[in-house]
Formats: sequence, C-alpha cells, structure tokens
Amino acid sequence: MDKNFVKNRIEKLKKEIAFHRYQYHVRDLESMSQEALDSLKNELFKLEQEFPDLVTSDSPTQRVGGRPLDKFKKAAHSSRMLSLFDAFNKQDMADWEARNIKILFPRPPLLIRRGGGAQRRGGGVDLGGYFCELKLDGIAIALRYENNSLVQAITRGDGRIGEDVTGNIKTIDSVPLNLADKIKNIEVRGEIIMTKAVFKELNQKYKKANKPELKNPRNAAAGSVRQLDPKLAAERKLDFIAYEIVADMGLKKNEEKRELLARLGFKTLRENKYCANLEAVNKMHAHWEKNRDNLPFEVDGMVVKVNDLALWNILGTVGKGPRYMMAYKFAGIQVTTRIKEVVWQVGRTGVLTPIAVLEPANVGGVTVTHATLHNMDEIKRLKLKIGDTVILERAGDVIPKVIKALPKLRTGKEKTIIAPKKCLICASDIKKIKGEVAHRCINNDCYAVNLRRLSHWTSKGAVDIEGLGPKIIEQLMKEGLISDVADFYSLAAGDLKPLERFADKSAENLVDSIQVKKNILLERFLIGLGIRHIGEESALFLAAESRRQTADGRQENKISQIKRIFSDYTIEELENLPDIGPIVARSVYDWFHNKLNIELLNKLEKAGVVIDIAHLKTRKRPSELSGKAVVLTGSLKSLTRERAKAKIRELGGKISSAVSPKTDLIVAGKDPGSKFEKAKELGVKIISEEEFLKMIK
Ligand code: IVH
Repeated sequence: MDKNFVKNRIEKLKKEIAFHRYQYHVRDLESMSQEALDSLKNELFKLEQEFPDLVTSDSPTQRVGGRPLDKFKKAAHSSRMLSLFDAFNKQDMADWEARNIKILFPRPPLLIRRGGGAQRRGGGVDLGGYFCELKLDGIAIALRYENNSLVQAITRGDGRIGEDVTGNIKTIDSVPLNLADKIKNIEVRGEIIMTKAVFKELNQKYKKANKPELKNPRNAAAGSVRQLDPKLAAERKLDFIAYEIVADMGLKKNEEKRELLARLGFKTLRENKYCANLEAVNKMHAHWEKNRDNLPFEVDGMVVKVNDLALWNILGTVGKGPRYMMAYKFAGIQVTTRIKEVVWQVGRTGVLTPIAVLEPANVGGVTVTHATLHNMDEIKRLKLKIGDTVILERAGDVIPKVIKALPKLRTGKEKTIIAPKKCLICASDIKKIKGEVAHRCINNDCYAVNLRRLSHWTSKGAVDIEGLGPKIIEQLMKEGLISDVADFYSLAAGDLKPLERFADKSAENLVDSIQVKKNILLERFLIGLGIRHIGEESALFLAAESRRQTADGRQENKISQIKRIFSDYTIEELENLPDIGPIVARSVYDWFHNKLNIELLNKLEKAGVVIDIAHLKTRKRPSELSGKAVVLTGSLKSLTRERAKAKIRELGGKISSAVSPKTDLIVAGKDPGSKFEKAKELGVKIISEEEFLKMIK
C-alpha cells in the first residue's frame, strides 16, 4: 500500500475515532455504535502494525480505558491494569499463536524448551493449550483484600491510577467482603456487570416513573459503579464475576484460578473452559457467537489465555496489553467497510437495482461482500459515493444494510453514483418512471429481464420446478431453446441431451420435472406471471376472487377463463375488490391489456398448462362493510358484541376500538358514550342498530 495514502487514512481515522469517543465519553451521546467504532479502531490498528513508524502517542490504539473522574478519590494499582489486543477471525488468532511461538522458539530448528510446558513435538509446537473465558461486557474492577477483608475497590482508570469506588462496590452482593480462606494480601480482578434481566426490569421501572432509561447493560454497570451515592448504586443490583488473581498463589495453570476464586467465595463462569489448541478455541468461539443471546449477561467475545502461567513471564507485555492473552471478538452486528463499486442489477420487471460491492466484512458472523442500495432515492438519502467508508449492519437474519456513510473519511477521489442511461445488458434506454423511485429498462425483450422472468416462473414461490435454476435457464436461452415461460413445456429430452452439462438421465429428469408441474395452483400461476406488485397475499386475493366468478361451474379451459375474467375487469371494478389497492389494480389491468401477455397466456394454454382452482374457497361478494374500519359503541339489543364483531369481520370489515379520522362507520347502540360524541365531531358516518342489522343480513 502507498505510504502516503496510509498516512492520510490514519490521520482521518484518528480524527473520526476521537470525535466519536468524545461524544460518547464526555457528552454521553452515542454518535456511532461501539461496534462500528471498534471496526474503525481495528482498521487503524492494522495499518499501524504495517507501518509502525506512523504510530503516534495520541493514537487511540495507545490508550488504556478512560481517565479517572474527578469526583472519586484516586488510587494507584498494584500492577498495571492492562487492556487486551483484539482478534476478529481465525487468521488473527493463528497469527497471534505464530508470533508467540516465534518469541518462545526464536531459532526454529532447535529443540529448545524455554520454561513451562511449551515444547516442539515433531513438526508442530504445543504451547500447552488455552484457557478460554467469555468476555463479559461490563466494567473491570480490582478488589484488594488485606487479612481477608475487602479494603479497596479500584476502577481501571488509565491502567495505573483508577478511582476508589469501594463504597459502591460494597453494595454488590456477589463481592465477598471477607474471603473464605485466610490470605494476607491478595488482589482479585474481574468484571462488574448488569444482567440482561436486571437491565430490562430497571428500564421498565424507569419508564413508568418517567425517568431517563439506561442505554445498555454495560453503560448501566459503568454508570452505577461511578455513582456518588452508594444507595443509588445499590438499587442497580449489579453482579461481580472474578477472573484474575494478582498475588503469587503458587498456581501453574490459568484454569486453576477459577477453582481458587470459587473457593474464596467469588462468582466465576462455568462456561469458561480449557481448549487444547486453536481448533478447539475456534469451535468454542463459533458456539458462543451463535448462542450468546441465550446467556443471562452480555458478552462481546472470548478472552483466550495461554494456560501455562510460566509462559506469561516470557511472553510479557507489549504496548497496551499482554502477549499471552487475546480478546477474540464476536462479530458485531455493525462494522465499517468500503464501497468499492456499484453495479446495477436488472430485475424481472426491468427495474435496475444498485448493488454496492463491498470490501468483504464480517458482520454478525457472516462475510458480506454485497449490499443492495435499493434505489437512487436511498443513495441520495445516505449521500453515498463510490469509495466511501460506510457502516454496515446485519441484525439477526436480516439482510445486510448500509446505514450510514462516513464522509469525513473521504480522500476526494470518491465518485458520484449515477444511474445508467442505457441498459447494461440490451443497451435499451433506461427511464425513470414518473411517480416511482425506480429506474427501469424499457425493453420488454431485454435478455436480463427475460432471464429473471423465466427464473421467477420456476422459483420456489411460483411454479417451483426442480432442477431448473438460473444457470440452466441461461444455458437454454443461449442455445435458443426458450424465450418465454411457455417454451419450457415444449422442451424434449432430445433437445437437451446434446447440451453441455446434460446426460441422457439428467435431460429426461428435467423434462419430467417440468411436465409434473403442468397443473398449477391459480395463485402460484399469478405469481409466476410476474405481474408487478403481485405478491403472495394479493395473488391469493385475486385467485379467490376469480374462483367466486367461476363458481357457476362452466367447463372451459381454465386459462381462457382466467384470461376472460381478468380482461373484463375495469380499473374501478378491480379497485373495488376487497384487499386490492389502486396500485395493484392498475398493474393487473395493464398486464391483462397487453397484447404480448395475452399471447403468452394463449401459448401456455396450447402447451397444455392447466390451472387448478379446486382448493380455493369461494368468497362472499364484496359487502358494504368490506375494507371498512368500524367502531361499536353503546349496548346492542339483538346480538352480543362478540357476535356483532364476528359478523363485521366475516363481511370483510375491520374492528377498531377508538374513533379516529380513519374510522369509516360507527354502530351506535343504547347509551353510546364518548366515542359517539367524537364521531359526531369528526363527521364519521353513524348508524343505528337497526340499520346495522339490515346491512349484515
Ligand atoms: S482478562 C489485560 N478476562 O475485557 C486485561 N478480561 O478489553 C486482562 N474482560 O479490561 C483482562 N471478561 O474489563 C479478562 N474473562 C475476562 C474478561 C475480561 C471481560 C474485560 C476486562 C478487560 C477488557 C479488555
């Protein structure tokens, strides 16, 4: 990488990180998620490692924790409270192990043994395994015990000097005030946390009392420890989990600390365990990355510790942290990455969708390389440019989303994103349709549009033809065997056999799987046609509606019947159908009034495709109540409220409990209350019980 470029990038990263840290730590504003900030810090760290001479003392990578606050008494630590280096993936972990091996075995061919249990065996090196702990997301604290009693509790502060928060810490039940064993001097370090359950409970309480809510469990824990009033701190129900002992207790392995701590009366984690090698570490990491939500507290990774304590002295520390430990972070749901390029994908309706090609980023445990930017409006809203550093988010199973650009990190070489003027596939004009956000290829015969259309027909949500995915379809198109969906049905095994990737058997199988799906449920047929705005729901409504019209049982070929029914509708009639809005109505109308589409239906009919409607229930004719928001008020004489509600729903109406400008109708029984008054005020139509009965007859 060009050094000047890196230098520039480092300067910008430092500024950006400093800005958000200030917002968070000083102004108490979260201007960027801690995860996204970590992602930027990691990029900075990696660049600094590559160019160590570019590290400056003001770099955020050189900093341990925050400064001690003024309001507490300062206290010096017995030994520095360090920070940890971060690893984000298997490679980082392998690099870390390799570095340690190099330090422990500086001359590779020699079979030297330097302290502890590290040894070369055969070709490999064994450091004696790791003790892996969950990395609790709270606030680190050092507890000093003298002659068995807790004498002082100190926050990390800058690592050398922290705040004396003894009074507050003493309110935490899981902090033993006296140790179970007699020990003259010992310091125990661990994490103060707030469990998810307590966090939730407190916030519910604060909400009710109209008090400001806590941001997250980590903040809540940190804030409570630094409360000046111990009574308030006590109310926060914090927890303490121990992981470290600073005193020579004659231990040989890190894993022994847990037993000793437990014996002394501390809470430790049962989930922590010994892992013999990095493979086991990675396995444990993958397990908790996936199952972290099931833990009662928040964790942001694992702390992997060389188990052999004799090696700790040899490995020592460097900069802000020890070499013998590594924070192996879980993938955050937010990371920062860069937009390398924007490509435009042509959909089955000809709509062009901009897709950001990203520098690969691990977000929420998945490597993401592309993210849809939806349309030009979204690009404008986010003020995105090609080359921008962006925050990418992926929560749960949700598709990855670019949520923000970081314009301050620009170099000036970023490029504006422009929608193409010509289709990249067929070179036809691209038009922005009035009233729509989308750009569209106007060529009905565009190769890309056709490919999408054909793939859509065979996809799971539509006709679901096994073995007929986009790759095969593209091959068939290129061979000139198909150009529309009706062509699938005239394919013969003999057409396919000579083609690449096909053998006798596979050719026959494909033809079979096409033929067995010749009988198509009406709603899936409608979905398959790719009429714009028709999804699963609206296809079902339309199918049910046409079933009503075919209930007279006339025996004609079903495709012609469907063609007749839908071509006969006027726009108004379509709009008046229950559950069909004006956009869908317009789209259905246009589709059935396009000559090419009617030809396609005729072709499908000729090919022997049959529509199946037997499973559809006939629907009631649209009633006066369909789609109406109805409110009931006062008592009804002739039927119960439940019965009345059921009847309204049966006729397609919706029940609301309150009157608003959206209410269509009020049924007023005896002694109507305030709803009646409000309806009068808003001019909502009011009917009596008698009128209502007539309506539902
Ligand atoms: S050992 C050199 N073990 O992570 C620091 N730390 O990012 C040694 N943490 O300051 C810490 N769980 O607040 C250790 N099982 C664990 C931990 C843990 C959470 C925190 C701790 C530390 C921070 C470093």
